[in-house]
Amino acid sequence: MSHAPHAAFDAAGQESLYPASNASTYLNSPTLDASYLAGFLTLQSPTVTVGLCVVIALVLGRIFGRRKLPQGVKPLPRLPGLPWAGRFWDVPEQGVDAAFHFGALHKKYGPIYEWKVMGTTHIWLETDKVARDLFVLRQKKYCDRNILPAAMGVKEDCEILPLSGYSDEFKKHKNFIHTLMKDSTPKTFYGWPLVENKRTLRRLLESPERWSEHMITHCARTIGSIAWANPEHGNKLLIVVPDLLKAVSPAGPIINKLTFLRHLPAAISPFKKFEAKRKQLMQDAFYEALQDVKDRVEAGNCEDCWSQLYLAEEKRVPEARKMDWHEAAYAIGSSSFVAIATIGGPLHSFFLAAAHYPEWLPKVQEEIDRVCGDRLPTVEDMPHLPKIRATVKEVLRWRQSTPLGVPHEAMEDDVYEGYFIPKGAMLHANHYLISREADKFPRANEFVPERWIDPSYPSYKEPLTEFPNIRGDMAFGYGSRACPGVELTNMELCTLFGALAWAFNFTSKIPKEDLPWYEVNPYVITMSKPFPMDIQPRSEAKRRFIENECGDAGYVLKTKREGKWDIVHEAGEKEPWTWDGLSVPYEKPAVKRVYPEGA
Ligand code: HEM
Repeated sequence: MSHAPHAAFDAAGQESLYPASNASTYLNSPTLDASYLAGFLTLQSPTVTVGLCVVIALVLGRIFGRRKLPQGVKPLPRLPGLPWAGRFWDVPEQGVDAAFHFGALHKKYGPIYEWKVMGTTHIWLETDKVARDLFVLRQKKYCDRNILPAAMGVKEDCEILPLSGYSDEFKKHKNFIHTLMKDSTPKTFYGWPLVENKRTLRRLLESPERWSEHMITHCARTIGSIAWANPEHGNKLLIVVPDLLKAVSPAGPIINKLTFLRHLPAAISPFKKFEAKRKQLMQDAFYEALQDVKDRVEAGNCEDCWSQLYLAEEKRVPEARKMDWHEAAYAIGSSSFVAIATIGGPLHSFFLAAAHYPEWLPKVQEEIDRVCGDRLPTVEDMPHLPKIRATVKEVLRWRQSTPLGVPHEAMEDDVYEGYFIPKGAMLHANHYLISREADKFPRANEFVPERWIDPSYPSYKEPLTEFPNIRGDMAFGYGSRACPGVELTNMELCTLFGALAWAFNFTSKIPKEDLPWYEVNPYVITMSKPFPMDIQPRSEAKRRFIENECGDAGYVLKTKREGKWDIVHEAGEKEPWTWDGLSVPYEKPAVKRVYPEGA
C-alpha cells in the first residue's frame, strides 16, 4: 500500500495547507479559488443537475435493463423511479429525515425493499430480524463498505477504519483496534474519563450556558488522552471531524447525490481539490500526535495511552500482524475521531431528556446519593446503579447517534426469503425504526428508562446488577462491522451521566412546548440541537466540591489563532460555538414541525 499523501488528488501548484478553519465548508473554504467555486456552483444548480441526470438516465437506462433472475427468485419490492437514475430527487438530505422517510415506507413495501439511485441499489432493512439475518447470520456476504463519492479513495486505502472496504488490511486494522480496546478496558481506559468528568463539571459550573460546547469538549479531551495521553490532541480531532462527516453525508457536497461527478478530472474538480487538502490535514493530525507520544516515550515521561501501548508492543508483534507507522497512526486516529460525535449524541440527548421528562432525574439522584454519598460515581459503583445504566440504554434507544447505522455493501449475489440481493448493493439497517419495534418497545417514541428495570416491560432483564447494559446493543451495529467502541462508550456515558446527576439539577429555561423534539444536525451522525438550560449545583457542598476538587476546567476554544491546531471562536462567549455546524442551537420555527408517527 502506498503511503504517499494522496498524490493522485493533488492538483498542480498546490497551495500550502489551509489553516485549521473552524468554518471550513465547501462554500466558504479559504482554499477554493474563484474558478473552482464557479464550477462548483454551476454543478449545484438544480436545473443543470436535473437536466444532466435525465440525459444520463435515459442513456444508461437503455444500456442496462433489469437483470434476468434465476427461476423462483423474485426481485425485491422497489420504489418506482427512472431507469438507472432511480428516484434521485427523493433523497432526504438530513440523516434523521431519511430514517423517518424510509421508516414510513416500510408499511407499504415491507421489512426489506429496494430503492435505486444513480445506478446503485440501496436496500432498506426495517426490522431487527432482517438486519440480523443478513448482517450477523450471513456476515461474510455483507461486510464491505460502499464507495463514498466525496470522500474519494477512502474505501480503498484502508486508512479510516469505519469506512474501509473489507480486505486483509482491514482485518489487520480491526484486530489492532480490538487489541487496544481489550488491553485498555480493564484498566478503565487508564482513568482518563474520570479525570475529564471533573473538568467537565468545572466548566459547567463556570459557564453553564455553554453546556453543548462542554459536552463536545469532554469527548474530544477524553479520547485525546486515551489515544495520545494528552487531551490537547483532541483539538486535532475537533478540526478534522466536521469536513469528513460532511463528506460522508448526503447533506454534504452535491457529488454525494450526483455520484457521476466523481469522474471529473482532478484539474477541474473542486471536490478532488478539497478532498486532497482534507486528507493532508488529517494525516498531519495523526502523524503529529503519534510523533509527540514517541518523543515523550523516549524522554521517559509518557503516561499510559493507546499510542504508548503500540510503541511498546511494536517489536514483539508477529510480522503478519505488524502495523507500520502510517497504519498505526491512522488506526488510532480514525478510531478516535469516531468517539466525539457518537458519544456527543447521547450526551446532548441526556439534556433533552432531562428537559422533557423532569420527573426522571430525581429518581436517578436518589440512587446515586444512596450508593455514592458525597463522592462522584466510579466504574466499581455501576453494578449498584441500574437507573444510571437504564438512562444510558434508553438515551441510545430514544435518540440514535446513527439513525441509519453505517451501510454494509453486499460482497456477492444473495437470495433472502426468495428475494434477490445483488452484489454491490448498499444495505441500510434503519436503527431509528428498529429501536421503535412495537412488541419490544411500548410507548416507543417516549423516553422511558423504566422499561429496562421494571419487570412489566418486555425489554426487562435480570439480574439488575448486570442488566441493563449496552453490550450487543443494536445502536452499535451488526456482525463483523459492529462498533469496537462499546466498552469505552459504556464507561464514558455511565460515569459522566452519574457525575452530572450527582452534581447538578437541570431545568429547561423554555416551556416544554417550545423545546426541540427530534431536531438534530443534518449529518449521518446526529446530535440533538442545544437549547437554553438552567444548570445549578444541587447544594453548597457540591459547589464547594467542584471548586476544590475539580481544578483546571480544560477549555479548548481560543479567540485568536496562536498555533496550527487552535480551535478559534472569535465571538468568545457572545455567540455559541457550533462546531462547524454540527451543534447549531435550536430556534423555534414559525410553524411547529409535525413529526411522523413514531418519532
Ligand atoms: C454512542 C456511541 C457510539 C455509537 C452509537 C456507535 C455506533 C457505531 C455504528 C452503528 C457503527 C457501524 C456498525 C455497522 O457497520 O454495523 C460503528 C462502527 C465503528 N465504531 Fe462506533 N459507535 C459509538 C462509539 C464509538 C467509539 C467510542 C469508538 C472508538 C473509540 C468507535 C469506533 C468505531 C469504529 C472503529 C467503527 C468501525 C468498525 C468497522 O467498520 O468494522 N465507536 N459505530
